[in-house]
Amino acid sequence: MDKNKLSIVILAAGKGSRMKSPKAKVLHTISGKPMLYHIIKASREISNDITVVIAHQKEALKEQISHYFDDIHFVEQDAINYPGTGGAMKNINAKNEKVLVLNGDMPLITSQALQGFIQTQAEIIMSIFDLEDPSGYGRVIIEDGQVQKIVEQKDANDAELRVTTVNAGIYAFSRDILNKYIPLLSNENAQGEYYLTDVISLARKDGCSIVPLLVDEEHFKGVNSKIDLAQSEMIMQERIRSHWMAEGVIMQLPETIYIEEGVRFEGECVVENNCRITGESLISNSIIKSSSVIEESIVKDSDVGPLAHLRPASHIEDTHIGNFVEVKKATLKGVKAGHLSYIGDATVDKGTNIGAGVITCNYDGIKKYQTVIGKNVFVGSDSQLVAPVTIEDDVMIAAGTTVTSGTIESGSLAISRTKLRSIKDFYYKFFGKKS
Ligand code: UD1
Ligand code: CA
Repeated sequence: MDKNKLSIVILAAGKGSRMKSPKAKVLHTISGKPMLYHIIKASREISNDITVVIAHQKEALKEQISHYFDDIHFVEQDAINYPGTGGAMKNINAKNEKVLVLNGDMPLITSQALQGFIQTQAEIIMSIFDLEDPSGYGRVIIEDGQVQKIVEQKDANDAELRVTTVNAGIYAFSRDILNKYIPLLSNENAQGEYYLTDVISLARKDGCSIVPLLVDEEHFKGVNSKIDLAQSEMIMQERIRSHWMAEGVIMQLPETIYIEEGVRFEGECVVENNCRITGESLISNSIIKSSSVIEESIVKDSDVGPLAHLRPASHIEDTHIGNFVEVKKATLKGVKAGHLSYIGDATVDKGTNIGAGVITCNYDGIKKYQTVIGKNVFVGSDSQLVAPVTIEDDVMIAAGTTVTSGTIESGSLAISRTKLRSIKDFYYKFFGKKS
């Protein structure tokens, strides 16, 4: 179907009380992006006319969504006078004849999974699935092979509660159906809300064509609680990992690896077990060893970990980062930092070795300062580099040195130590002879 012939409305105005959170439900994240982001992303692949209905925390929603997409229409729901999913549809003026309505809490939806709604012709197409445990969902009452109505859990009688066919929460309506039935909805139900789902029974009574589409939970799962959120995350992670493995990334024990939407891999990469890679990180021809965390960083032709932490805006090339090394906002090219270091707000150039226990002291309690380290520098173990500091090319810093002056010139040795004293027989005087 032509992208210009389909309108999509995404309902995102609800509070999501079952999440027990001060944050609006649709802003909770799956693989690092708000749930609503994932739904809009899928929607844009099939439509150029996308409306998001907002009310609760509307400013936060607008701001977050505008950060990712610039062509979304926002419509405000009068949630006080017209609460509920039917109330949310009150002010909608769809551009096109066919209108797809999506609940905003279905982050696993894909454009492929929506094809059935586009290809089927009917006045109403609705999504159903069968669940062993249907709790939380609206039950779909089918008689004589025809959908009669949807009964919300809170309004259902015992017989209806036993129905395992449920409303998945995505519908395609003809614009005429919406214009006719949305104004007719009533709020006489257990929740005192205007239910979009009541359009079904009203339209059925008038003999309209209603086609149920059988869909799968893997794409149509709704997120109401933090348990649903965690379960949906697992499905999304499985998808992201499978995608990258198909692209050539080697993953050891993939189910223990977390990779956010937005992370990219190039060439042949290895990710060992228990790693976490977030934000818009780029990993190119590199090995990320066990239990490392990489946040919003670039790693090229390098090996990182085990147990290393690259914090945002780190850029690592031709570099070895070993265990217990933390890097933040730093560029390291052709460097070895093998053990137990903090390198923050720094640039380190080719051929430089950062010894065990080296710390860039980048913060004086008020401001952050830069450390610049040139080529072929040897920074001895347990040195502190008190920023702002520049270490030129070809410098040796002796182990245990605290570098405080602004610049160490090329070719120098920097050393700050108290002279070693060795006091003969002190041990025996203090402890006595033990053997
Ligand atoms: C809804 C359906 C239910 C279905 C389920 C599928 C109704 C009445 N019930 O129930 O039959 O099985 O989805 O997941 O539609 N929203 C608004 N404005 C509001 C209330 C909600 O925009 O006033 C939005 C929410 O932000 C959410 C979506 O609509 O994204 C669905 O609301 P939710 O409260 O989760 O509905 P369910 O109880 O899950
Ligand atoms: Ca829901």
